[in-house]
Amino acid sequence: MNEVADNIFKELFHITKKHRAAQKAQKPCVVWLTGLSGAGKSTIAKELDSKLYKLGVHSYILDGDNLRLGINKGLGFSIEERSENIRRTAEITKLFVDAGLVVIVAVISPFSKDREMARTLFEGSEFIEVFVDAPLAIVEQRDTKGLYKKARSGEFKNFTGVSSPYEVPRQPEIYVPTNILSCSEATNKILNYIIEKDFIS
Ligand code: ADX
Repeated sequence: MNEVADNIFKELFHITKKHRAAQKAQKPCVVWLTGLSGAGKSTIAKELDSKLYKLGVHSYILDGDNLRLGINKGLGFSIEERSENIRRTAEITKLFVDAGLVVIVAVISPFSKDREMARTLFEGSEFIEVFVDAPLAIVEQRDTKGLYKKARSGEFKNFTGVSSPYEVPRQPEIYVPTNILSCSEATNKILNYIIEKDFIS
């Protein structure tokens, strides 16, 4: 029988998020990229990560596909499983933020309630939601991984945008339409935001 762990008390460490951030001369934050498969989340994440690296900022990417190969292995694409996928991803993000990093998260995260739950784990303005927007017709035409074709043929069930909904963020901190902005322009828009908000200098 599985026992639910109780009588667990949070252990507080001597070295806090503040200490770790100060050591790195940066303020930790989360750049949460949400959008359809193929909209450009991973491409923007990698470009942003490289730019931050060159600036001497300590960052890290948590990418949906990679997480699903490891910690989130075995989770499917039902509403409940996506919810669990986002919960785990958000909790891991919180640990990385606690370690003082600028964390770039690239997950479809199609449901507002899951994104809002993720936001509640962070302090003040730490959570920066970025809507990576591209019209379905365009991502479907690009179909870089051939997934939309499989979704249309019925080989994939619950495919976001085709047979499962994507709830558009109502008030994202940053909006990047990737059918209008180049990858470099989109990345600079995010970079400028985190500089303006004093997360990095
Ligand atoms: S999320 O909806 O739970 O946030 P996540 O970002 O982790 O999704 O994973 C999306 C990746 O899984 C896509 O990039 C795609 O390669 C793959 N994938 C496989 N099946 C599906 C599906 N039914 N819907 C969306 N993505 C899928």
